[in-house]
Amino acid sequence: MDALRSVFSSTPAASAENKMASNVLITGANRGIGLEMVRQMVEDKGRVKKLFACCRDPNGPNAEALQDLAKEHPDIIIVTMDVNNLESIKEAAKVVGLKVGEEGLNLLVNNAGIGLEGSIQETTSKQMLDSFETNVLGPMNVIKEFLPLLRVAAKASKISGMSCNKAAVINMSSMEASMDITKYTYSEAAVVPFRVSKAALNMVAVCASEELKKEKILITLMHPGWVRTDTGGVDAEIDVKVSVKGILKVMGTMGEKQTGMFLDYQGKTQPW
Ligand SMILES: NC(=O)c1ccc[n+]([C@@H]2O[C@H](COP(=O)([O-])OP(=O)(O)OC[C@H]3O[C@@H](n4cnc5c(N)ncnc54)[C@H](OP(=O)(O)O)[C@@H]3O)[C@@H](O)[C@H]2O)c1
Repeated sequence: MDALRSVFSSTPAASAENKMASNVLITGANRGIGLEMVRQMVEDKGRVKKLFACCRDPNGPNAEALQDLAKEHPDIIIVTMDVNNLESIKEAAKVVGLKVGEEGLNLLVNNAGIGLEGSIQETTSKQMLDSFETNVLGPMNVIKEFLPLLRVAAKASKISGMSCNKAAVINMSSMEASMDITKYTYSEAAVVPFRVSKAALNMVAVCASEELKKEKILITLMHPGWVRTDTGGVDAEIDVKVSVKGILKVMGTMGEKQTGMFLDYQGKTQPW
């Protein structure tokens, strides 16, 4: 669990306070990258205080693996949250607020997303609107509704500067959102609704990072790699364990300089 240890203890401003366990929330935590992130975080004992694993249907068949994991790890608190539904996000923020109290929320991972495919000629308005609802409005509303809890954590923390165990939002984007990279990859993967909505998410995160930097809340974007999940498909390049191990390691290197940046799971800056 070296990767996770680095999230909580080897930021540039590493200190005794940095080693304190943190309160973490992950959206879309019932499968794929989100579920593996929950697993790797809780398996490193003593590093997470409370881990809010959010999913839209905790009692449905897609959440069985998460329910099983939660039975083994009491640090996991499963919270219902559909990022397409503002009331559901508000309700989740209330539940989490009551549980974290004066500690606030240290790390929010905007992971939930959908990957609709299609060229410009094939893509419908509905596919574009659905992608914007989940991949853009969803994470933006989650940031807005959890901001009071991130603020509490930022104020309560004794860590100077910015860090993922002080107050941070990691947004799961994609290299397919990159205008530069699209020139070289479009013929292989048109995926217009995905590319366009993740590009918009990038702008949301950059705006949020500018707005919140004075409050020392770190906001970044990450490309997790091309990962074998339901979204990535069976032919994807890397296993979910490799992706998450890398993401957690990179999160550990994040400080003030990384706010507003777009990095991949190996720490490489992605072109806009
Ligand atoms: N895999 C890749 O190669 C890759 C590459 C680039 C970026 N990404 C990004 O990485 C993130 C995780 O992807 P993944 O590969 O783990 O995908 P995944 O296995 O398809 O899982 C997607 C997750 O998002 C959740 N979700 C979708 N819509 C939601 C909503 N309205 N409310 C709450 N949760 C919702 C799903 O929940 P349900 O089970 O309820 O549907 C599921 O937990 C996504 O943002 C994705 O775009 C992935």
